[in-house]
Amino acid sequence: MKHLLSISDLSPEELSEILELAEKLKTERYKGVITDYLKNRSLAMIFELPSTRTRVSFEVAMTDLGGHALNLSWNELQLGRGEPIKDTARVLSRYVHAVMMRVRNHSTLEEFASYSSVPVINGLSNLEHPCQVISDLLTIKEYKGSLEDVNIAWVGDGNNVCNSLILATALMDMGIVVSTPPKYEPDKSIIKRAKELKARLNFEPNPMRAVKDADVIYTDVWVSMGQEEEKERRLEDLGPYQINRRLIDAAKEDVIVMHCLPAHRGEEITDEVMEGASSVIFDQAENRLHAQKAILLKLIGGENE
Ligand code: CP
Ligand code: NVA
Repeated sequence: MKHLLSISDLSPEELSEILELAEKLKTERYKGVITDYLKNRSLAMIFELPSTRTRVSFEVAMTDLGGHALNLSWNELQLGRGEPIKDTARVLSRYVHAVMMRVRNHSTLEEFASYSSVPVINGLSNLEHPCQVISDLLTIKEYKGSLEDVNIAWVGDGNNVCNSLILATALMDMGIVVSTPPKYEPDKSIIKRAKELKARLNFEPNPMRAVKDADVIYTDVWVSMGQEEEKERRLEDLGPYQINRRLIDAAKEDVIVMHCLPAHRGEEITDEVMEGASSVIFDQAENRLHAQKAILLKLIGGENE
């Protein structure tokens, strides 16, 4: 039994296996192959924060694999009325085979997982978004042929997605340059963990210089969920970090642009770049589905896989 709270809960071998499985499942879906690898298995999905991609891709993933997903909003559960996390975790463990949760505070996930006897999957916390970056690696592999020698430039806010991406590059021995304004750097605990994993991590506050040798430019919103009160200051501080035509022109000709979505056009990325030839953003969103299936199979597939 394994939880997926941080991308670094996976070994490089496990992560590679998930990516290969995702590729296989993607091919099967395109061929219209009917699978029931998760027949009679149930996934509880608990959302403390909104979601489009994570919610729908996990639910469809369970359906495609012959299983069932329950979409549970925090406030509609007794959790919203104060039932302890530790009680909810123990009760749900008796009904379902895994729990996927999107929470404000990473500590909520850790507490839930410590009382859960079934795998708990991080569907986004303030600290990490591991499922997102698993599908991102799949997208990079598709566009660049392999993950080897790929260099990523993260430009913007050093947030939850950035944290997981840094750890993912460390696991897969890829290079990453992080370009943020001062005070928007990734979480210190993540940098420490990345160093332990021998990450090829560099910091370059000038975005033009950061993208020069990049194969992938990745950005995300400047105001993440739960940071709405800081909006004005964030938009001002992060203004020079927009992904626009000028920045793309400073990068390699075959650079690809990624964004986990939802995007705020005109803030972290221009409409022109989002809709332009370098953008792989919608293929990236599709891959959430294929990657979720592989994650689920790996965690709860058992003998049905
Ligand atoms: N990228 C992502 O996790 O999207 P949602 O917030 O829509 O799930
Ligand atoms: N960093 C964003 C990601 C949304 C998928 C947030 O936490 O809101």
